[in-house]
Parts: sequence; structure tokens; C-alpha cells
Amino acid sequence: MIGSRRAAADGARPDGVANAPLLRVTDLRLEVPGATGPVAAVDGVSLEIAAGRVLALVGESGSGKSLTALAIARLLPDGVVRRSGQLWFEGVGALERLPERAMRAVRGAEIGFVFQEPMSALNPVMRVGEQVREAIEAHRGRPRGRAARQRAIELLAQVGIPEPELRYRAYPHELSGGMKQRVCIAIALAAGPRLLLADEPTTALDVTVQAQVLELLAALRRRSSLAMLLITHDLGVVAELADGVAVMYAGRVVEQAPVEVLFRAPLHPYTVGLFRSLPRLDGPRGRLVPIPGSVPPPGERPAGCPFRNRCAAAVARCAEQEPRLESVAQRHAVACWRPGAVTP
Ligand SMILES: Nc1ncnc2c1ncn2[C@@H]1O[C@H](COP(=O)(O)OP(=O)(O)O)[C@@H](O)[C@H]1O
Ligand code: SF4
Ligand SMILES: [Mg+2]
Repeated sequence: MIGSRRAAADGARPDGVANAPLLRVTDLRLEVPGATGPVAAVDGVSLEIAAGRVLALVGESGSGKSLTALAIARLLPDGVVRRSGQLWFEGVGALERLPERAMRAVRGAEIGFVFQEPMSALNPVMRVGEQVREAIEAHRGRPRGRAARQRAIELLAQVGIPEPELRYRAYPHELSGGMKQRVCIAIALAAGPRLLLADEPTTALDVTVQAQVLELLAALRRRSSLAMLLITHDLGVVAELADGVAVMYAGRVVEQAPVEVLFRAPLHPYTVGLFRSLPRLDGPRGRLVPIPGSVPPPGERPAGCPFRNRCAAAVARCAEQEPRLESVAQRHAVACWRPGAVTP
């Protein structure tokens, strides 16, 4: 099943956007409780992902990446509110207007979710194969009973679990971290979703296992038209998997481009800072230079450009007026008054 759908996506644009996107997020604003009232944690985020394409969402911790993904799946934690924004999904329509019952059907059947910590997504007292089978049976029109069990075993094999018939009967604690994450990926794929939201799917794993899980995601990406929103802080992962990249800072998208453009010519001083501060698998291994300071929490973001307190290129205008995300070339947008002022 995974092998058949890729071809349709090959005409799509390389930045993860086709004429008719699979998912379009428009002007998303999410609020969290602040000292004197709600404050924006995600502010005016717009994204598009085409069928079969991978959009990477990168940025330091606290940038709003996870909340953005949770908002798409309508799984926001208590206290976090979607103040505005549209979530349009091809063939379904406006996700934000769906009744919860209909949204439950979309989760799984259209949108799968893989989290950073596999144990939090698994039921510790249920055999892993049964959990995959349950995810298959949860949706109308899917196989049931023995057929679902057989399909679960096939899925376990597909995500690279050796001796899947045997492992079907294992409990989560009997599997390694990498194997658990593979089970989570199998559950996410059980109902054949068109979009996978993967939030730091390899961060909790050790380095060799990270590489194996990445290889699995890369294989899924090559062999099917499964689209992904891939949240990661690892630019090596981005280089390997993504078509397009959106860089988030303090709740906003500050730069967006096809992956090869962003790696060749990043324009936002923050993006350049990320390249300097994070290890790259594909580039020279020079000294890593951390970006001074940290992401301001919601409610404490400075007026003007939210990055200005940490930016080597800041000028007076940066304190007065917030730069909007604007196209600087075809498919390359940046929110900065001085794009390119800091060079890699
Ligand atoms: N449940 C919550 N309640 C209040 N604030 C939250 C909650 N979840 C996240 N936040 C705040 O929203 C901001 C963005 O969080 P998050 O989306 O998790 O960032 P990222 O995934 O980029 O690290 C952070 O400053 C965080 O403190
Ligand atoms: S707008 Fe100014 S402060 Fe913000 S990133 Fe650009 S140069 Fe730096
Ligand atoms: Mg996160």
C-alpha cells in the first residue's frame, strides 16, 4: 500500500507546496494563559503542505512548533486556545469547524501523529500488536478480526520490526526505545493517513537508533505519497528528509523556503544563527556558536522584531516595527528588515 501513491506527488513544487495543497494553515493564532490575560504563543502562522511532501518545522525550544502541530490535529492541551486561523484539509474542508466526532475520524484516517516520547503514546498493559490492530479497527471500512490482526503484523514488518508475529504479543516494556517508536509509527499509519505529524520523532532515542528511525521515515517518504510535517531541531534530519522548511521563532514563521535554498542562502539572522549553532551532518564541522540568549516566552516578546534582543544586525527600525513575512524570491519568504545582513 505504501508503495503506490508517490507518483502523483512528483509534479508538486519542491518546497512542499503544490497548486492544491493537502493541508493549508492560514493565520493561526494560539493563546496561552499569561499573568494578566491570554497571550499569543503562536501568532499568525501560515503553512502549506502538498501530498507526498515533507515540510520541516525548525526552531529552538519554545518557538511554538509543537502547539502548531497539536492545533492541526485539534489536540491542544487544556488552557491553550485557538483564537483564530483556518486549517483546511483537502477532501475534508475546514478542520476547525468539524464537530469533535468527525474530527476523531479525521485523526488516524487522514492525519497520524508521532510524538517524541514513544512510551507516552503506548498503553503499557496492552500487547503492542493489539494496539496496532485496535488502531486499524477504529475506522469504518477497515479490516476487522483476523484480517486486522494480519494487517497489524504486515504493518509491524513494514516499519522494520523483526519477527513481527512474535513481537505482536510483546508488551511495550519488552521492546527497546527504537522498537517502541516503530510501533508508534505503525499505529500512526494504521488507518492509511495522508499526513503524518511527527514531533521530534527521534529526539528521545540514542544516536544509532535515531538514524534507523530516520531511515524508516525516509523510506516511507520515498515509497508513498504520505505527506509529513516534521518537527525537528536537527538540520541533518531536515537535509535528509524535507522538501521545504519553515523556521519558527517566538510563535512566528520567520523564514520559509525549499530546503536547498535555505541551506544555500539563509537570509534571516535567526536562521543563520541556527546553522551556526547546530551540528550539521552534511556540512563542515566547524566550531558551534550558540545564539546568545533564549526564546522569550509568550507575553514577554519585545515590540518590533521579536528577535531583536539577540540579533547582531538589529537597527532602530527593528524596535519600532515588526517585519512581516514577505517574499524575497519565488518560494522564499523572510520576516526581517535586513534580510541577508548576517551571512553564514
Ligand atoms: N499547555 C501549555 N500551557 C501554557 N503554555 C504553554 C503550553 N504549552 C506550551 N506553552 C508555551 O507555548 C510556547 C510554545 O510551546 P511549544 O509549541 O511547545 O514550543 P516548541 O515545540 O517549539 O518547543 C512555550 O513558550 C510554552 O511555554
Ligand atoms: S528585523 Fe532587525 S532585529 Fe529582526 S532579524 Fe532582521 S535585522 Fe535582526
Ligand atoms: Mg516541542
